[in-house]
Amino acid sequence: MAGLDEVLKKHPNLQILNNELLIRGFSLFKIAEEYGTPLYVVDGNLIVERYKEMRDAFLSENCNALIAYAYKANSLLAITKLLAKEGAGATVVSAYGIKLALLSGVENSKIVLVGPSKSYSDLTEAIKNNIGLINIESEQELVEINQIAEKMGNRMNIGIRVNLGLSAGAHPKIRTGGRKHKFGVDEKTAIKLYKYASKMKGVKPIALHAHIGSQITDLKVFQLEAQRLALLSSTIYKKHKLDVPVLDLGGGLGIPYTSNEERIPYKEFAKIVCKTINEVYENAGLQKPMIIVEPGRYLVADSTLLLMKVNYVKRIGRKTWILVDAGMNDFIRTAMYNAYHEIVPIIIRDKKEVYNIGGPVCESSDVFATNRELSEVKKDDLLALLDAGAYGISMSSTYNIRSRPAVVMLFNNKLYLIRERDTFEDIIKNDKTLPNS
Ligand code: LLP
Repeated sequence: MAGLDEVLKKHPNLQILNNELLIRGFSLFKIAEEYGTPLYVVDGNLIVERYKEMRDAFLSENCNALIAYAYKANSLLAITKLLAKEGAGATVVSAYGIKLALLSGVENSKIVLVGPSKSYSDLTEAIKNNIGLINIESEQELVEINQIAEKMGNRMNIGIRVNLGLSAGAHPKIRTGGRKHKFGVDEKTAIKLYKYASKMKGVKPIALHAHIGSQITDLKVFQLEAQRLALLSSTIYKKHKLDVPVLDLGGGLGIPYTSNEERIPYKEFAKIVCKTINEVYENAGLQKPMIIVEPGRYLVADSTLLLMKVNYVKRIGRKTWILVDAGMNDFIRTAMYNAYHEIVPIIIRDKKEVYNIGGPVCESSDVFATNRELSEVKKDDLLALLDAGAYGISMSSTYNIRSRPAVVMLFNNKLYLIRERDTFEDIIKNDKTLPNS
């Protein structure tokens, strides 16, 4: 079990002063008092720092890359705007995702639309706004885009999402690249569709794309992915004399959720993929391609903690349960993927105890930790669940008629409310009742 020291070493924006956990010197107690709990607390500066780490990593490799932030990880407007201002692109999965990227200030040419089952309105929104790239996942989708684009008088850049039969990720539910998964098309079909697309008037094939999974911490997997995509594009060139000037590697780079894992410096990722791709292209006598990456988790996960209040502490048999005011509706990763997240009490006491930590939702999966050793916790204490910035608020719901939580952001030493807690009216506002009821 990780000691507090190791946890703090991995989170330099957190400190302990007089036995109290602080974030960049701010009292989490005071923040909770002012904004209530459950509450997500985002460190905006850390997100910017991560983005710059990525950008600089590609620059130092002399690698032309677009960092297209995967909005699904966290699509709060304050965050998408912060990243857009730094120059990030956006990877989105829906028409509203495109609207959000544009509203955030992302240039049309830096928006990438991905997804295995796009609707007619998703495609129309993309084509109407002439976004940078649509990654297609079937022949039918290619034909549909071509038809819509021709009608609108546009020519859309498209990529082909390839199912490389290469799958990785921390949990079966977040692996996407295997043959058994619904994503992409196989290599043979990809070559055929690339050629087919080159003859169409409404589309222009420019890219090959893959996204093999999420929370991947083995760089060799990305090297293999990069190599396979690059080799496929050299085959396309050899066979059909068609260039593939863009390779989109998707997202998936993991972070250390447990304190005995190490953070992978982005420099290492950039180095390995750029080198691998450039080598294959060079050997084939082709010009270096542009690289797109679609990071979600790596950019935002460690920026955020979920602050929750202890409603009760009780014993059942041999177990001591801490029952908190946050539930699986606020944060679903533990219930859904059995994910491990560090949890730190805001008041640190000398005595230690082993706890299970559960929420208010009436499901046995509504549990954030089991057999976790923490410093002693009492009723009305606060706890912080760490690394909650990716797939936290974005996967929250109003299940059990509970509000989705409020979110605050610390940025340049100031605290801002960036999402209000749902009110009762928010929760029921789209419901309609039957006549005479
Ligand atoms: N690009 C595509 C096409 C994706 O499907 C995803 C994530 C990403 C990029 C970003 O991947 P990342 O860099 O964040 O790993 N809810 C799960 C993760 C699901 C990921 C889905 N796709 C979780 O909480 O672990």
